[in-house]
Amino acid sequence: MKVLVLNGPNLNLLGRREPEVYGTATLAQIESDLRNRAAELGVEIDFKQSNSEADIVGWIQESVGRYDAIILNAAAFTHTSIAIRDAIVAANVPCVEVHLSNIYAREPFRHHSLIAPVCVGQISGFGPMSYILALEAVVNVKGERAKVKH
Ligand code: DQA
Repeated sequence: MKVLVLNGPNLNLLGRREPEVYGTATLAQIESDLRNRAAELGVEIDFKQSNSEADIVGWIQESVGRYDAIILNAAAFTHTSIAIRDAIVAANVPCVEVHLSNIYAREPFRHHSLIAPVCVGQISGFGPMSYILALEAVVNVKGERAKVKH
């Protein structure tokens, strides 16, 4: 199983960005922990970050036929990007939305996710563990879909 992990704007600053909200782990540490769990689960992952909406749309488009699932922390684009939402629908690759912080416990403008309705589900508020939980979710979703097919 191959999973694409995408990270949006300002997540490259993790570790020094609002540590009281996002914690002190860097994105490299989050990636490393996720790779360890992926190895245990026998999952191959590619892990990317961009501050550009166009990159994220492009990576989602290119995921078709290459990945079994996408784990997406679209960061601020979560709340603004119809383009990312449309790309998820067009690609039709199962996508799990993740957030480090609990977006519903924060400012009202973060309570609405444009991508949530087109994702399999959402994991929000568990810090770096959100990524691990998302990985376990996509592995289970794939297992459940396989069971339905046979
Ligand atoms: C975030 C939450 C978003 O509202 C915010 O814009 C981010 C990070 C999170 O992981 O908690 O940049 O996606």
